[in-house]
Amino acid sequence: MFTIDHLGIAVKSLAAAKGIYEKLGLSVSPEETVEQEKVRLVMVPVGESRLELLEPTSDDSTIAKFIAKHGEGLHHVCMRVPDLAAAVARLKRDGVRLVSEEIKVGAGGHRYVFVHPASAGGVLLELVE
Ligand code: CO
Repeated sequence: MFTIDHLGIAVKSLAAAKGIYEKLGLSVSPEETVEQEKVRLVMVPVGESRLELLEPTSDDSTIAKFIAKHGEGLHHVCMRVPDLAAAVARLKRDGVRLVSEEIKVGAGGHRYVFVHPASAGGVLLELVE
C-alpha cells in the first residue's frame, strides 16, 4: 500500500521548532543523529503519518544548504511504497532522475531513495519501503 510516511521539514533548531507540536499536545520522539546525512532529527507522529524535523549538524549538510538557499520550511515528502527495488527499477527505466542511483540504507536499517525535484513537480520525493 502507498502511504505518506512523513513530511521532512528543514529547521535551524530542533529545540525551537518542536515547541509548536508539543504545545499542540503531540508527542515528539527523542533526538536522533544520522551521521551520513549530517542531520539531527525528531519525529512527530500525526495520525497515520509523521513530521520529520531536520536540523543540520554541519554547514556542508544538504539541510544546511537548503536553509541557506530557501530558509526553513518543507524539504521533502516521503512516500512508502510496497516494493522499493521494483519501483526504483521502473523509474530508472522510464528515465526519472534520482538524487542517487543506489538505494541507501538509513540508521534503523530502512532503505530509501530520493527522486529529484526535476522529475517530481518541484518536490524532493523520498521513497521508502
Ligand atoms: Co525523510
